[in-house]
Amino acid sequence: MAASQHVSLTVNGRSVQAVVEPRLLLVHFLRESLGLTGTHVGCDTTHCGACTVLLDGKAIKSCTQLAVQADGREVLTVEGLAKDGELHPIQEAFLARHGLQCGFCTPGMLMTTYALLNANRKPTEEQIRAAISGNLCRCTGYVKVVDSVRQAARTLARPARAKPRTGRRRTTGRRR
Ligand code: FES
Repeated sequence: MAASQHVSLTVNGRSVQAVVEPRLLLVHFLRESLGLTGTHVGCDTTHCGACTVLLDGKAIKSCTQLAVQADGREVLTVEGLAKDGELHPIQEAFLARHGLQCGFCTPGMLMTTYALLNANRKPTEEQIRAAISGNLCRCTGYVKVVDSVRQAARTLARPARAKPRTGRRRTTGRRR
């Protein structure tokens, strides 16, 4: 067995140091070592997108990245979206537009949406559908998800309310 390696990374704005096996997947590191179980494992084969997180701002599937590949980098998980107990506007939009049902795919959908809207604040429906094409949903229906992304885009586009907070304390996307 290869020797364990030291990794140093930032997760949701927090500095993290750990010693990991070289073969440890990032998703297992997040869930099992750090207890960030909002990131789900659906397929383990890069198909479903439930494990999507941001690595240096880019949406990636954490079931096909090694924890050691995140060394020196920044990871954002669904737990990093809400601040001070208040949902992020993207979470609010999914809640308001019924963009989730069972919730299993939701963390991945939220993180993919976050990356999309960071790069493109006014995506077309086609661009939204292309962005979430790697995130599978088996119950809500993509019409609702697309509607949620559009709602989030509209909210984030408002200059005076770039990051509105409603005070609602919910935990969308944190299903365990
Ligand atoms: S668990 Fe990673 S893509 Fe499905």
